[in-house]
Amino acid sequence: MDAMLKTAGAEETLDPVDWAEVQALSHRVVDDAVDYLRDVRERPVWQDMPAEVKAFFAEPLPRSPHPLAQVYDEVARNVMAYPMGNIHPRFWSWYMGSSNFTGALGDFLAAIQGSNLGGGNHAAALMDSQVVDWCKQMMGFPQSASGTLVSGGSMANIIGLTVARNVKAGIDVREHGVAAIAKPLRFYGSDQLHSCHRKAMEALGLGNQALRRIPTDAGLRIDIDALRAAIAEDRKAGFQPACVIGTAGTVNTGAIDDLQALASLAAQENLWFHVDGCIGALIAIAPENSYRVAGIERAHSIALDPHKWLHAPFEVGCALIRDASAHRSTFAVTPEYLESTPRGLASGQWLHDFGLQTSRGFRALKVWMALREHGIEKFGRLIDQNIAQGHTLGRLIEAEPLLELIAPPNINIVCFRYRGDGLTGEQQKALNTEIMLRLQEEGTAALSDTTVHGRHCLRVAINNHRTRREDLDLLVRETVRLGREISRPGVAG
Ligand SMILES: Cc1ncc(COP(=O)(O)O)c(C=O)c1O
Repeated sequence: MDAMLKTAGAEETLDPVDWAEVQALSHRVVDDAVDYLRDVRERPVWQDMPAEVKAFFAEPLPRSPHPLAQVYDEVARNVMAYPMGNIHPRFWSWYMGSSNFTGALGDFLAAIQGSNLGGGNHAAALMDSQVVDWCKQMMGFPQSASGTLVSGGSMANIIGLTVARNVKAGIDVREHGVAAIAKPLRFYGSDQLHSCHRKAMEALGLGNQALRRIPTDAGLRIDIDALRAAIAEDRKAGFQPACVIGTAGTVNTGAIDDLQALASLAAQENLWFHVDGCIGALIAIAPENSYRVAGIERAHSIALDPHKWLHAPFEVGCALIRDASAHRSTFAVTPEYLESTPRGLASGQWLHDFGLQTSRGFRALKVWMALREHGIEKFGRLIDQNIAQGHTLGRLIEAEPLLELIAPPNINIVCFRYRGDGLTGEQQKALNTEIMLRLQEEGTAALSDTTVHGRHCLRVAINNHRTRREDLDLLVRETVRLGREISRPGVAG
């Protein structure tokens, strides 16, 4: 007995010894976090880390304890001071959301509650399903559809394409595998498809070549006639056309495929119609621009990305599937240790039946809290605002003789370059790359680059609720200044 008590006395926990001390420190963390966000505009968008900060991340595995206050100071000094920058008003690289404070509180509370969204009978699971229902409503999907919150757009696309493969395989692909499919499946998308679709095809065992990239028109939208011809050609050659992927907002230029035409073609050809709406699906809630994604509600599946235009803190994506039973039967497995019970904790929906993960984080809370606080109409207006800003930036560039647009802005993505007249393509690329790097290194703005219609260009994606008109003016001014400076004789590569 004595020995047992001794053991009990020695039991450890991760809970703090002094709760009051932790409370005081937590207040400081929250105060610092509020200041951090409030003052973001005053800081550089990005800055490289000095050597001693980089060295900090090579420190070995800690074996003994450190006071929490010290741990927080280390994080403040070495991590918080060197962000990627995507919460800054002048961050426009690649394609990201700019997060929001309420969402961050949601992430904190989700972690405090610590619930596992594999499913079960508890409030977080109901909220997870509610956020999926709200996404359906935003997309004009029926209530009978299903969906799941995942890590982001890439995973959301994989979920949709996996259901498409299984429905169109013509065999029980879960049981027999892709090798048993009678005719090789073909998927179609434009030559502007995001690279995650290639990864999806590889992971699905269909292979990259099963994804036919269809040429695009002058506006970089899938060429519907070329798609129709490719489908006919494949049928003749013994392939089985299975799925067409429409993109609502391509990553290069924000081009939106003709979703109505794709939906009709998919119906005629008996294909699954998946929409990659990671960038543009949420335009459906923007009053001035929703017409651009008309037809999305006709899709069999949609991938959308609340960590982009709903500005949820990373990570959260959402896959929606019109046919809930096709969705569930693609992923559901009920092992003996996860059987449902008529009452109690295991009586709720098993949410892991709708995707690849078993344990799942409480992603819904950060989305739910921000939607509840602001209402969907405000998010719609912010999307309209970003699209208007994209068009404003396009006009500013057109009015500046030293700059040129590489593609007319469609939504919120602007592709342009410093002209550098008389330079070869390679020299122009070197000059514009140098402009981009100096804008980053000087902390002024973060842009990325790409190649459109075979021409290298700078790319600004304004998916940012903090961007103001003055930020766009500054970008144009600084790009011109740097372009002039770098292209002075002897400076340009
Ligand atoms: C069109 C498109 N699809 C898919 C993705 C992948 O989304 P995520 O980065 O959330 O995985 C992106 C990312 O920007 C995208 O632009």
